Amino acid sequence: MLFRATNLNTYYGLIHALQKISLNVDQGEIVCLLGRNGMGKSTTLKSVMGLVPPQSGAIEFQGRSIFRALPHKVARAGVGLVPQERRIFPTLTVEENLLMGVKAGCQPPKDLEPWTLKRVYKHFNSLERRSRNKGSQLSGGEQQMLCMGRALMGNPLLLLVDEPSEGLAPLLVKEVRDVLLQINQAGVSILLVEHNLKVAMSLAHRCYLLGKGFVAFEGTMAELQARPDVMAKYLEVS
Ligand SMILES: Nc1ncnc2c1ncn2[C@@H]1O[C@H](COP(=O)(O)OP(=O)(O)OP(=O)(O)O)[C@@H](O)[C@H]1O
Ligand SMILES: [Mg+2]
Repeated sequence: MLFRATNLNTYYGLIHALQKISLNVDQGEIVCLLGRNGMGKSTTLKSVMGLVPPQSGAIEFQGRSIFRALPHKVARAGVGLVPQERRIFPTLTVEENLLMGVKAGCQPPKDLEPWTLKRVYKHFNSLERRSRNKGSQLSGGEQQMLCMGRALMGNPLLLLVDEPSEGLAPLLVKEVRDVLLQINQAGVSILLVEHNLKVAMSLAHRCYLLGKGFVAFEGTMAELQARPDVMAKYLEVS
């Protein structure tokens, strides 16, 4: 097992945002985290990354504990985050933004090809055209691509991606989807938070559905599709 979180309890003050959340990702998998607004999807990713440390539970990555490790240590261990807010550096160029990802990340494992600017540009053509532009000059879609590219520059084995298609036009949603698939085929495992059920269905091997702070359902995408009752209760109807 590449990644395993067990019984995570995370609080914001008195708010018990994650209540015994357990989930895992195997090497090579794309696993989707689904659920309505405010259920704790982003908090789950932030808890893993050490940005919002859980109060109790366990998190193992490649057999080692990263529970309550500082975010840069989690990154060095091989976990990358593409945050929901994207957070690119507006005054830095695309290239400079990408290079920031190198510092934050880790050495590539021996059997995996390292991520370089050239390799990122191969997957994200629009970024190469914009390499000398400032972050602030990018469209929403380009910012999303930049954010994914920057995370990849840190050579993650597991990429946590929070709502990559949010606010994007259909053509760009498809581009994001295709890039995630390519990244996965290149050996990166993915834990994906995704509102767009169609995108999730077309990408993920398995999914977890969150109710308010708890895992309400887990299974393969086919098992989810066979449960319209679960989907109606825990997902947005779109
Ligand atoms: N910084 C914070 N301080 C206090 N409460 C927070 C904070 N961040 C999130 N919460 C609360 O924790 C709960 C889970 O929030 P979270 O952002 O993880 O949800 P989400 O599933 O990612 O939602 P969305 O689909 O809107 O992104 C919500 O009730 C939210 O209001
Ligand atoms: Mg969120």
